[in-house]
Amino acid sequence: MKLTHKDYSGTCPKTDLVICFGLKGKKPALPGDVKLPKAALEDFEGEPRAARFTDVTAGAARRVLLVGLGEAKELTAEGMRRAAGVAVSQAESSGAKSAVVYVDDAVANLAGGAEAVGCAVAEGLVMGHYRYDLGKSKPEPRKLARVSTLSPGADYRRGAKRGQALGEANCFTRDLQNRAGNQLTPSIMASEARGLARRSDRITCKVIDEAGMKKFGMGLLLGVSAGSEEPAKLIHLTYKPKGKSKGRIAFVGKGLTFDAGGISLKPARGMEDMRYDMSGSAAVLGAFHALASIDVPYEVHGIVPSSENLADGKATKPGDVHVGMNGTTVEIVNTDAEGRLILADALTYTVTKVKPETIIDLATLTGAVVVGLGHEISGMFASTDGLRDDLSKAGEDCGERVWPLPLLPDFLENMKGGPADVRNITTPEMGGGSIAGAAFLSHFVGDTEWAHLDIAGTAWNAKARDYVGGKGGTGVGTRLLIQYLHRRN
Ligand code: BES
Ligand code: MN
Ligand code: ZN
Repeated sequence: MKLTHKDYSGTCPKTDLVICFGLKGKKPALPGDVKLPKAALEDFEGEPRAARFTDVTAGAARRVLLVGLGEAKELTAEGMRRAAGVAVSQAESSGAKSAVVYVDDAVANLAGGAEAVGCAVAEGLVMGHYRYDLGKSKPEPRKLARVSTLSPGADYRRGAKRGQALGEANCFTRDLQNRAGNQLTPSIMASEARGLARRSDRITCKVIDEAGMKKFGMGLLLGVSAGSEEPAKLIHLTYKPKGKSKGRIAFVGKGLTFDAGGISLKPARGMEDMRYDMSGSAAVLGAFHALASIDVPYEVHGIVPSSENLADGKATKPGDVHVGMNGTTVEIVNTDAEGRLILADALTYTVTKVKPETIIDLATLTGAVVVGLGHEISGMFASTDGLRDDLSKAGEDCGERVWPLPLLPDFLENMKGGPADVRNITTPEMGGGSIAGAAFLSHFVGDTEWAHLDIAGTAWNAKARDYVGGKGGTGVGTRLLIQYLHRRN
């Protein structure tokens, strides 16, 4: 679907379908000389997400689709994204090849103003039209090929451009998540990252192979990869800003392209879902997809340790001890707690080689966070109040909410006292599996400002929200990271 944005000049271009938004208790505004039959609007209440097709009596299109927005004073960016998501899926199933989305002044001035509305509408349109196609030999072609928005001015258009880039980045992230494990190995992930560097002069990509990892002493990452024939990769993307940099920030993403649990094998039922265990790394790559077209005044680094976690003769066994890049010896009591191991070496690499001011890692780290927080909200562990508040606000802005959970030194203490410096899990009576995972990671970040986002619940099969959710990957994290950069100063 090709999406363009034009300023509204009083006329409506010829199209298959005109889409208009209606507020509760107000007559929806129509563009140009589009006229509806008298009765068409009478009982349209403008309830949120209500959709109605109606024929026109005059004007540039054959049909109009009205989408409700609810009460004006209650309208949020999330409401706008959802309405746009409803609009685009209705337009697709109507068979229209082209559509014009009319956003009048009254609507554009709500929900944070024209720029925010432009962003939300574009995100909703792009994300709401997403479908995973890469697994089909002959994907059914999509009908809706061209959508243009008629917008009320430059602020709206600026927002719309941004929303389009964010929406496309989210779809890129979802395409990575949804790929089958054999169709997205660590090597393929690395070539996807190299592809991102080709999209922008300001992005470069370095890939460290297993020989490089050995030189760095990344025994934890190599220990996870040992049970797999697929070589592990450590991907390092760098974005350099146009002008003077206001700071260096690193995003780190867990990239298990498949997690069978290793020798501590997972049960068969539902194991296919562990192809999504690379969702953190997909979010990071997606952020660089967005950075290819959105300027930020920071030097941004994306670090992705990528591996499989399988069980074979060379696999790490429960009780084995591996040595991390920072010299820490770790007893691997449970080989299924592998995310924290590959992240540990990636975090050490980030702290010692990149030296950023702030690190944000994203990982499908624990099943416990799904129990605790469900599928609508990611767990957040932040080392400073400032970072916690910035991420909370960024999450509210973009509809990818996060909820604070505590970093507790007691959990790290509990991991000490075995034959090595630390064990990779706590003893069972501790409970708090997500807190334990975060506590382990905290051992590898030193004093650097850091937040860990546990996205195991939000990364796939979340509640359907019109523009995202339902079966498959959600692309969570990508828009959150860019919104965080947008808010940071
Ligand atoms: N990738 C899983 C976490 C996960 C589980 C994500 C279910 C989404 C749904 C992770 O590597 C894992 O296996 N974690 C273990 C840790 C435990 C062994 C301490 C878990 O959560 O059970
Ligand atoms: Mn695991
Ligand atoms: Zn895992």
